[in-house]
Amino acid sequence: MLKGSYMIDLHSHILFGFDDGAKDISESLVMAKQATEHQITIVAATPHYQGQDWLMIQSRVNELNETINQSGIDLKVIPGAELYIDPQLLTMSKEKIPTYNDNGCYCLLEFPMFDLPHYVDQVLFALQVKGITPIIAHPERYGVVIDDPNIIKKWIENGCLIQMNAGSILGMFGNRVKQTGEILIEHQMVHLIASDAHSSGRRGFNLHSAADYLGKLIGDENAAGLVQKNPDLIIAGEPVPVPEVLAYKPRKRFWLF
Ligand SMILES: [Fe+2]
Repeated sequence: MLKGSYMIDLHSHILFGFDDGAKDISESLVMAKQATEHQITIVAATPHYQGQDWLMIQSRVNELNETINQSGIDLKVIPGAELYIDPQLLTMSKEKIPTYNDNGCYCLLEFPMFDLPHYVDQVLFALQVKGITPIIAHPERYGVVIDDPNIIKKWIENGCLIQMNAGSILGMFGNRVKQTGEILIEHQMVHLIASDAHSSGRRGFNLHSAADYLGKLIGDENAAGLVQKNPDLIIAGEPVPVPEVLAYKPRKRFWLF
């Protein structure tokens, strides 16, 4: 599927020197080259964010883009961040909150892997009051979602979007995460797929394999929505079509005695 066409990756750690992603500019460049080999034309740099300077992230993205251009690699990097959910987001001014391409419309938000903090709903609401739509990063990996996928239904109905990791659907994080990813896809609870690439090694750009897999699950056109159309709209700061969420009904278990 998607042969000869492009993909947009809105979650990566390609930006060097900020987090556990690319170690230096050389690794950022190798990752950039790898992204193009996977038909990716735009990558968002979304370093883990816990209050760093947003302007600094943007200026390093500019630096990276210059080096990418000079190297003849046909890839555009746009600035973003993976915001760790924190009560400081309640009081931060809109301009200081990292949004995709600094468009003031969409941000990527990460939760802890196991427990949900009590201020989750408050932060989600506060971001939306500022005009920013939160995109929840890889919820299929969170323990609370694995235990009860319907938690996502409430977040979407409250105006959030959902980003799933390509590696999750490919089984890179184990069977339970893969199964949860499939449940979310089948119940229309996912709006974009991204690589969450961390390095030029094993955790790289695997968007293409995930798009192929999803094409078989939900059809090529729907899969293209998750890696092309919706990411395009997010960068442009335009509304993303949100299909009606289907409630997940776990299969009942019958015990024979
Ligand atoms: Fe990430």
